[in-house]
Amino acid sequence: MTALIEARGLHKSFGAVVAARDVSVMARRGERVGLIGNNGAGKTTFVNMVTGYVKPDRGSILLDGIDITGLPPRVVSRHGVSRSFQMPQLFQSMTPEENMLMALGIARSERLSSWRDARTPDLMAELHDLLARFRLGEYRDRSIAALPGGVRKLVDIAMAVTRRPKLLLLDEPTSGVAAEEKFPLMDVIMSALAGGEVAVLFVEHDMEIVARYAERVLAFYDGRVIADDIPTTVLGNEEVQRYVTGIVQ
Ligand SMILES: Nc1ncnc2c1ncn2[C@@H]1O[C@H](COP(=O)(O)OP(=O)(O)OP(=O)(O)O)[C@@H](O)[C@H]1O
Ligand SMILES: [Mg+2]
Repeated sequence: MTALIEARGLHKSFGAVVAARDVSVMARRGERVGLIGNNGAGKTTFVNMVTGYVKPDRGSILLDGIDITGLPPRVVSRHGVSRSFQMPQLFQSMTPEENMLMALGIARSERLSSWRDARTPDLMAELHDLLARFRLGEYRDRSIAALPGGVRKLVDIAMAVTRRPKLLLLDEPTSGVAAEEKFPLMDVIMSALAGGEVAVLFVEHDMEIVARYAERVLAFYDGRVIADDIPTTVLGNEEVQRYVTGIVQ
């Protein structure tokens, strides 16, 4: 089967720190892939390189066979790659509805000067669909600052899908969320994304979440991918247990 995304030999240094060493990764259309690794292992750097926020020093990234290496984020997103952030990037002074309308307006026209311009019947219909899929109806008019952490994550992800991406990268969708809310949050995210062909790569520190929601897992350590396989195989790997999950000391 052909790859949707194929990263080959990515390398990135920040001064003396090597954040990516010969990282080669592929993902298929519609696949759910978990990215694990200790703090500083290079997960966000990988997400940043694929989405255009960081330029790799070496290596290439192909999306559907098109070379997107080093293109700026705005252009990468036009090719069908969207992301959410470890810390959601929302307009704090606006409500979830206004944030999402702004994203929809920009996704459809590029020339939006205000979210108010986005209140067209077509975009309002899309907004209602998104609010329902991401279970955000009851929060639509609240202020962003007053929202629980998990709801802020959902708004950020809902905004990321307004461009109808082929590939969606979620950087720690459950971080900062209470333990008992992680599974319900992932259920909402995965059901909102079901049915489409979008491939989802998500960074996650909780191995129970990884085991439940990923079809395949990539383990990062010291800028390298040290394991790439189905969850049970990766989570049972001795190097992964030593360096990532801390099961073997
Ligand atoms: N813009 C930057 N400038 C300098 N160093 C950076 C930069 N971005 C990342 N690094 C360094 O690169 C290494 C990998 O960082 P990265 O953020 O990719 O790790 P991570 O796996 O996402 O960690 P975490 O689980 O803590 O989010 C770390 O040593 C980090 O300090
Ligand atoms: Mg990170």
